[in-house]
Amino acid sequence: MTDWTLCIDFGTAFSKAAAAPVGAWSAFEPAGVRPLLLSPDGQGNAFLLDSAVFVDEDRVLFGRAALARAEEIGDKKRQALRSFKTLLSVSDLERALNANAPATIDPHRVFQMRDLVVLYLAYLLAAVERGAASDTMIAQGRIASRRYAAPAWRSGDSAGMHDIIVRLFGEAEEFRNAAGRRMLMAEGIPLRTISDALPKASQNAESLEMGLIFEATAAAAYSSIGLEGAASHLIVVDMGAGTTDIAALARIGSRTMELPEARVTLKQAGDFLDQVIANRVIESASWARGAEQKAELWNVLMRQMADIKEAVFVDGRAVLRNQGRSITINLRDVEKDVDFREFGKSLRQAYDHALSVVRDDARARGRSEVHAIAVGGGASTPLIRELIQRKAGSVRPRVIARPATPQWAHSRTFAGNLAPVFPQLAIAIGGALAPDSMLAALGGASRPANDRSGTPAERD
Ligand SMILES: Nc1ncnc2c1ncn2[C@@H]1O[C@H](COP(=O)(O)OP(=O)(O)OP(=O)(O)O)[C@@H](O)[C@H]1O
Ligand SMILES: [Mg+2]
Repeated sequence: MTDWTLCIDFGTAFSKAAAAPVGAWSAFEPAGVRPLLLSPDGQGNAFLLDSAVFVDEDRVLFGRAALARAEEIGDKKRQALRSFKTLLSVSDLERALNANAPATIDPHRVFQMRDLVVLYLAYLLAAVERGAASDTMIAQGRIASRRYAAPAWRSGDSAGMHDIIVRLFGEAEEFRNAAGRRMLMAEGIPLRTISDALPKASQNAESLEMGLIFEATAAAAYSSIGLEGAASHLIVVDMGAGTTDIAALARIGSRTMELPEARVTLKQAGDFLDQVIANRVIESASWARGAEQKAELWNVLMRQMADIKEAVFVDGRAVLRNQGRSITINLRDVEKDVDFREFGKSLRQAYDHALSVVRDDARARGRSEVHAIAVGGGASTPLIRELIQRKAGSVRPRVIARPATPQWAHSRTFAGNLAPVFPQLAIAIGGALAPDSMLAALGGASRPANDRSGTPAERD
């Protein structure tokens, strides 16, 4: 019977999870990597679970059902809660969690942010369990250990934050047990069930035993495996929906450590690009002059943004049809946008800074190569591809740009499903493959596993 390690990547836009056999690090087999099908039914990629919660009249909905319901209601004053992961990076997490949810999110004014996070995590845990049960390889063994991936905390107090997060997961697990099969039903969970079961779940819960791996370390893990000569030094760029994180790592012996001076987090990422594109279109749409028309066009754009963005970045342009009009969005126009150019400039500055830190470290240790990799949904955009190529080929130490999708992701085992979304799954996969020595905190212990002074501090 195989023992599996599971890693959950709770993302701003999408959550992901993957499992790998315990010990996969030293005996790597592509077939052993199991990204989980978190959204097996419905549209969209089955590996991605929308990070969304919608508080309806008498029930709470999750994931795609939450987004669909918010859209169906079409009321500007009622919104689905999204991007709540950004809560986890605020310096006073307890306070942020104890804040009441705003009226646009919770018209009943009964929920604190904490409640909604716990409910979403319960939904995520249920989806993970369903995904693991439906995987014939995992189902033959058992999940022996669990981890979650998180950004390196702003305050640098990873142990304190870790305690809060495993507690939230513990309450979520308790609630999920109480809610049973209803947890994954499209109609969501009745408010009455929540008001009965959630306080009890919070009271009875114990912290879940989960290890913590920093997202950048997980990205380094996936990219160091299955390689003949793995690099000792890495620079990782992760452009997700909420943030773009740049981090540098050095492997010394069996230990991978982050170089804290290199870390930069930018608050612009996929969500920001959505806004840039939508603003460009609205500015150029001469017929949409009134506030109402603009708001309407904004909503239309946002609903189709995933497709628009991909077409703009892959084909150089997207065509949107709306009310008999055809609107063309060119990559060239997006690239002319002042905000977009500012973002590009900050990115290049941040990258050059991090790269010089990691090259200095490599040089000081007599190493000859630094590998550059991109992860996250933004990895395939020209902006990030060009960034990774920047300084590639420079010598002593040499900078080598690595493809966002490793060769093994094209292996026949995955039937072509993994490669297209690999950059988004890279953190969950790396987190499942990484040895315990790469964890920032071990499961069941609040003591950081890899306690190093100067835990990365976030820079704005
Ligand atoms: N082919 C693509 N081209 C451009 N953007 C894309 C593409 N595929 C996905 N994205 C964007 O990537 C983002 C989601 O990426 P990802 O799943 O890595 O984010 P996340 O993990 O939820 O966010 P974060 O890491 O900030 O918490 C979305 O903004 C999505 O629109
Ligand atoms: Mg992410």
